[in-house]
Amino acid sequence: SKNLVETAKELAAFSAVEKHVTKDIRVLGVGSGSTVVYAINKLKELLEKGQLSPDLVCIPTSFQSRGLIVDAGLRLGDLDENPDIDITIDGADEVDSKLNAIKGGGAAHLREKVVASASKRLILIADYRKDSAVLGEQWTKGVPVEVTPFAYKAVERKITELHHKNSFQGASASSAAFEFTNPVVILRPAVNKAGPVVTDNGNFVFDVKLGKIHDPASVETVLKMIPGVVEVGIFSNMAEEAWFGKEDGTAYCRS
Ligand code: A5P
Repeated sequence: SKNLVETAKELAAFSAVEKHVTKDIRVLGVGSGSTVVYAINKLKELLEKGQLSPDLVCIPTSFQSRGLIVDAGLRLGDLDENPDIDITIDGADEVDSKLNAIKGGGAAHLREKVVASASKRLILIADYRKDSAVLGEQWTKGVPVEVTPFAYKAVERKITELHHKNSFQGASASSAAFEFTNPVVILRPAVNKAGPVVTDNGNFVFDVKLGKIHDPASVETVLKMIPGVVEVGIFSNMAEEAWFGKEDGTAYCRS
């Protein structure tokens, strides 16, 4: 039920913040999405108890994340001024056995990936539904791909024409990089507005259905190389740990 899922998200978020956001953390990356809201609640509590560094600055990954930081009374920081982030805590749509992740269900994956990439450590927080062996198994809405509006038709065509074997070089050429023969591309619609969703960066988002993703790193690279693609919601080899809340009120982490 919804309640169990929300409790699980909260538990994952609390566990990760308690373990990682110690007094020596000075620059913290703050992710986006509904699970991160619980992480902010815990940060606010630590702030009020004086358990955070007095110099702590938080780097946002979206408009939503920025608002959460400001409303909690935390100090908002800028990536230009803080290019070395100690640690980032972020949600995920799905995490595989090797900690590769799909992100971008909230269309925030461009800034999330930039912030994750500027961070020494990326810690993911999620509920039990996101814990998966293979990407594409649990999260069936597709891989979010942010695209610049000028190029969207051209990019749609290039992605649709990808073939699960022929489009991939080297070690993966003989075996399929993903389950479907060709991807199915959906332009993400906006909510309460006609037409496509527009990201914080003024771009569109495709949800690219591939079935199970056997080779996340190759799929990420091939999609990213298409001119007009701004960012791909596959985060391969970026996370060092993922916390999952369970239905029974406990949490566990994988690293
Ligand atoms: C935002 O674009 C996403 O990457 C989120 O981090 C992801 O969708 C997780 O969101 P929830 O915590 O709401 O599931």
